[in-house]
Amino acid sequence: MSKEYNIAVIKGDGIGTEVVEESLKFLNHIEKKTNIKFNFQEFPWGSEYYFSNGVMMEENGEKKLSSFDSIFLGAVGHPDIQDHITLNGLLLPIRRYYDQYICHRPSVLYKGVKSPLSDKKPGSIDIIVVRENTEGEYANIGGFQYKDTSDEVAVQTAVFTRKGCERVMEYSFELSLKRNKKVCSITKSNAQGYGMTLWDRVFEDVSKKYPNVETESLLIDAACMDFIRQPEKFDVVVASNLFGDILTDIAAMITGSLGLASSANINPDKTKPSMFEPTHGSAPDIAGKGIANPMAQILTSGLMMDHLGEPELARKIENSVKVVLEKQEIRSPDIGGNNSTTEVGNAIINELNL
Ligand code: NAD
Ligand code: IPM
Ligand code: MN
Repeated sequence: MSKEYNIAVIKGDGIGTEVVEESLKFLNHIEKKTNIKFNFQEFPWGSEYYFSNGVMMEENGEKKLSSFDSIFLGAVGHPDIQDHITLNGLLLPIRRYYDQYICHRPSVLYKGVKSPLSDKKPGSIDIIVVRENTEGEYANIGGFQYKDTSDEVAVQTAVFTRKGCERVMEYSFELSLKRNKKVCSITKSNAQGYGMTLWDRVFEDVSKKYPNVETESLLIDAACMDFIRQPEKFDVVVASNLFGDILTDIAAMITGSLGLASSANINPDKTKPSMFEPTHGSAPDIAGKGIANPMAQILTSGLMMDHLGEPELARKIENSVKVVLEKQEIRSPDIGGNNSTTEVGNAIINELNL
């Protein structure tokens, strides 16, 4: 019996468009070889939509995605529009509206990829950062007073709730049970005496339910240092929204490139669609050149298939990328090659063993 998945596609801006197109080609190939059928519906939202309509997506756009099984997104961001407009106008409202409170970001040093850190062996870095994705520093509560005067005041409020901390930590502990039973919590309670001390207390409370899991609590500044100094020690890392954002760019780089960093914005209850977009942005510096690495987006499609209940296919998707990397024949410039987005995409299709 064939299985059908309804996927909303938002290519977005810059290389987002290029890597999504490559991934759709890849998913269409899967469709031909398996009993899986994808019904893709594209939404032309993003910066071009903004230039024509003055908004990033149609009114209440986020609500229009509720009937889909998943949302597959490239990246958003344009050099001619302020980032707070593009991101608060499209990406962040979707994460919040569908309560995608988990941002699941794996970083593995694959065979054939050189880490900028010396002497790192394949597999020696294998971290999943679980980033809180709906509150914390991204709560989007605040305002200006005396705007555009010399007395201007800006207030930006971080929101930490016990429930919000609990659920992201529980997800992290459960995940660690399937891995090496280690969870590291990232804090800054030495300076952030309210939100971050609640975070720490909840981490202590949740950890009591998992006596067999080894725990550590690290200050964000020390964690940034240790992601460089001894990344091997990390397994599951749970962090607030902003700290997780920063750590996942570091995690991407120490494992080779942002072009390899997959990501999933998940609502684990599965009552609402989750959204799958890589860690990287629209990369205006290379947009339009056809050289973006599509691997992060293709690996992200693997995370999507896993979430949709196709773990075997997800494993095969990751494996096809791994084989291309290991062969070191076809690769994009970000990881030292000179192949195009399309050539890398074709190579991954060739290695996909369905
Ligand atoms: P970026 O992730 O777009 O790029 C950072 C660097 O990594 C650039 O040098 C870029 O060329 C390189 N890079 C990223 N992805 C790559 C890939 N797949 N292949 C090869 N090289 C790759 O970050 P930025 O430059 O800080 O941000 C650009 C825009 O994207 C901004 O507007 C930002 O707000 C936005 N952004 C959006 C998302 C998203 O929509 N999910 C994520 C991050 C940044
Ligand atoms: C990411 C991005 C976004 C974030 C930006 C573009 C709002 O950097 O997904 O990592 O900070 O969440
Ligand atoms: Mn980021």
